Amino acid sequence: APARDLAGVRVVVSAGPTREYLDPVRFISNPSSGKMGFAVAEEARDRGADVTLVTGPVNLPDPPGMRVVRIESALELREAVVEAARTAGVVVMTAAVADYRAAAQSGEKQAKVAGDVTVHLTPNPDILAQLGQEKGERVLVGFAMETHAGVERAALKAQRKNADFILLNYPTREGTAFGGDDNQVTLVRPDGSHEDWPRVSKREVARRLLDEAARRLPGRVAG
Ligand code: C5P
Repeated sequence: APARDLAGVRVVVSAGPTREYLDPVRFISNPSSGKMGFAVAEEARDRGADVTLVTGPVNLPDPPGMRVVRIESALELREAVVEAARTAGVVVMTAAVADYRAAAQSGEKQAKVAGDVTVHLTPNPDILAQLGQEKGERVLVGFAMETHAGVERAALKAQRKNADFILLNYPTREGTAFGGDDNQVTLVRPDGSHEDWPRVSKREVARRLLDEAARRLPGRVAG
């Protein structure tokens, strides 16, 4: 049986993609499967945490033994995560949040027109950065997907967002990241120090992630 080292700790996990609707039937999104975030939520639950899983649209059933909040857009994700994070000890942002949403969402299906169309997009708020601004004693964990200069970019991201660490993954590696059951990540801290983890199951990545997070909880002995 797993150690119940997270008993009494509230853990908030975001998972999956967001959908940014252009009109009632069209949206911008990405292929995030939600598997990584669900694995973190399930591992945290099995270690005794009180878990809130905030997820975008994914083909995964609600895991038992936790609160599951289903959202679609980045703005809905922010609302649910910020609310749940108020009392949380650990927040893990695995969600693949869309960087942009439609500046004006049409209430009616947009008719096809001849020729090109222009869509006006506006940036979504950075939820992890917002949580980082009022970090308190919360442990904040992010993910990042980069195709190049990964470690440097992830370290800058961790600094800018005030995250304790970021797990960097690569969109192009066989069997990992989007949709896969395994993941190969590099743990990157804001100071640029980093550790390459082997390719393991997403559940094992979750285990290692929560080991690292648990060490950073206030009152825990470093080890
Ligand atoms: O900047 P980038 O999107 O690469 O950062 C990735 C990390 O930041 C992930 O943990 C993601 O969940 C989080 N993020 C966020 N809000 C956004 C964009 C990303 O919380 N708008």
